[in-house]
Amino acid sequence: MSAEDPRQKIPGVPRHRREFKALADGREPFFPNFLLKEWIAGAVFLAGFMLWVIYNPVILGPKADPTDTTFIPVPDWYFLFLFQFLKYFPGPDIILPGVVIPVIAILLMMFVPWLDRSKSRRPFRRPLATASMMLFIFMSIWLTAEAWGQHEVEIGAGVAQASSSNGLPFAVQHPTSKALLNTSMPGYTIFQQNCAGCHGSQLEGSVGPELRGIGNVATAQQLLPVVTKGFSPMMPPGGGLSDPKQLQSVVDWLAQQKQH
Ligand code: HEC
Repeated sequence: MSAEDPRQKIPGVPRHRREFKALADGREPFFPNFLLKEWIAGAVFLAGFMLWVIYNPVILGPKADPTDTTFIPVPDWYFLFLFQFLKYFPGPDIILPGVVIPVIAILLMMFVPWLDRSKSRRPFRRPLATASMMLFIFMSIWLTAEAWGQHEVEIGAGVAQASSSNGLPFAVQHPTSKALLNTSMPGYTIFQQNCAGCHGSQLEGSVGPELRGIGNVATAQQLLPVVTKGFSPMMPPGGGLSDPKQLQSVVDWLAQQKQH
């Protein structure tokens, strides 16, 4: 040790104080120089962030409704990939996918500085590290998207189930195509005059349910008795129509509505 070495022993000065100086060769010791700066920056950020959050409280979403049985719980978006990952391990054993594999993945990430000791910073010089990171990012995005897509399908199925458990015989799956079909048929005009007030002029539904795509789930033969009977007390018998001919033409037209 030369006389200029800042790490030399100075009697009465604790070790960490002695090292609080740049090394002779221009490098900085990790502890305490580097770490102290990081800590200060982190603490300032945290204090600022806390103040900001305290003075700008954000409502987290609609209040929980214990009476809503159609509610499908789903984790927040940043946990969706883990949530989706669990789904690929059906069965009662959740220790492996729920604890062991995620913990191994986290440990691997923590040990990256020891695992990837390459001096080069160029991504292409470190194929293993780069490939693992790309794979990790890709899997996270893909699993999140998968989870969200499946959740949307579940919500859709829940809505369909809720409306059919409502007593609707032909619950339609809300189609994406909106255009009415065969509007030159006489039933179209009868529908607009007698039924559109409750089912919407474009079959979009208002008081009554949506009827777009009803031709996919019901024939005129099946529709006729249902419409004739009506739904007490919400829909009068025949939807207000009493002429069997008019009823026949309106269900003939409805059966043509095969929007997807
Ligand atoms: C006063 C409002 C009203 C009128 C007018 C009315 N409906 Fe309805 N309709 C309803 C309601 C409400 C329901 C759902 C009843 C329920 O949820 O139990 C319904 C249900 C239906 C259904 C069953 C839908 C399904 O998904 O199973 C069909 C079909 C239907 N109506 C056809 C007609 C036709 C055709 C007319 C005209 C001739 C008509 N409705 C007129 C209110 C109305």
